[in-house]
Amino acid sequence: MSRTPQAPSSHVPAVDVLVVGGGIIGLVTAWRAAQRGLTTALVDPEPGGGAAQVAAGMLAAVTELHYGEETLLGLNLASARRYPDFVTELTGATGQDLGYRRCGTLTVALDADDRAHLRELHALQSRSGLESEWLSGRECRRLEPMLAPGVRGGLRVDGDHQIDPRRLTSALVTACERAGVVFHRMWAERLTVVRDRARGVVASDGTELSAGQVVLAAGSLSGRLAGVPEYVLPPVRPVKGQVLRLAMPEPPPALTGPSAPFLSRTVRAVVRGSHVYLVPRENGELVVGATSEELGWDTTVTAGGVYELLRDAHELVPGITELPLVETRAGLRPGSPDNAPLLGPTELPGLLLATGHHRNGVLLTPVTGDALAHALTTGELPEEARPFAPGRFDAAALTEQPA
Ligand code: GLY
Repeated sequence: MSRTPQAPSSHVPAVDVLVVGGGIIGLVTAWRAAQRGLTTALVDPEPGGGAAQVAAGMLAAVTELHYGEETLLGLNLASARRYPDFVTELTGATGQDLGYRRCGTLTVALDADDRAHLRELHALQSRSGLESEWLSGRECRRLEPMLAPGVRGGLRVDGDHQIDPRRLTSALVTACERAGVVFHRMWAERLTVVRDRARGVVASDGTELSAGQVVLAAGSLSGRLAGVPEYVLPPVRPVKGQVLRLAMPEPPPALTGPSAPFLSRTVRAVVRGSHVYLVPRENGELVVGATSEELGWDTTVTAGGVYELLRDAHELVPGITELPLVETRAGLRPGSPDNAPLLGPTELPGLLLATGHHRNGVLLTPVTGDALAHALTTGELPEEARPFAPGRFDAAALTEQPA
């Protein structure tokens, strides 16, 4: 940690807000800040890169509900509710189609144990006031004829949709440019702290980028920016996810009536304890994900990862082995200790966080943009984001937890 500002080799005029990180979370933060009239810059060597280039884009507040994550559920639902207006606004601002598809999701069980687990999940969803419908195996296959004959039952969730994260990212870059966000295509090397206040960053070419407020939104890298004092360093870690992209066949021209698509909605399951999902896009892409691996910064696509995904996906939908395998890729989710994001002001004046979104970055994009814009203009988080203030991980806050 250093509180000594480095001598800049050149100087860039100050802006109100500097966002460190140009993934979807950094981009939406910059866009929303600029819309509020704040002069905004963003520093990232490749804006629009990051985990969203790998993500499947499920907007799965209900089917990604896990035990103990009921607080996060509230934020996930708040963001899911904003999605239709968010998509309309971003499409209007850019003229770009985001691949938003209100197709629903079907979570299925392959054996008696899965079925029992899914029944419990259904009960949890019902207790949480969420809409999901229990279907028999036959009813599941009626909805999705490509499902394996052994499917034992499933949960139909018509409110869990999808978006194409690559299109979303590209549109956010355009929206930022049109809103006047200045892009510095460099790495942020070090946070500048002057008299106990964040004042900007020193970029990789030595340029000092100064700002009234700095938002650290660098995904899994957020804990690695030099100069950030230990007591506000976000506790995020990389959680590797390997993802495949296959090409679905065009539905054959029907002689009578509409012809069936390969899959018409997201299909997912837990197979041998691992999550597998198949997300069919309107453009024919089928995204199959994802592994969850704690391997540090490794982004190697491994034979084992691809094998496990294909093996599990094949148990759900045997026909996938006929499809062309178009792409294999690995990304790093920004995991936090409670799987929920860190949003808003830190104990260091002038430094805010927007990171730690783990499995829900795409879903949480609209609500994060709104929460950070609110925090940047008022100094406070809006009601729905307050449980996600970074201070919940402070040593003092942690010792106050009940045993
Ligand atoms: N939200 C899906 C994943 O993280 O794999």
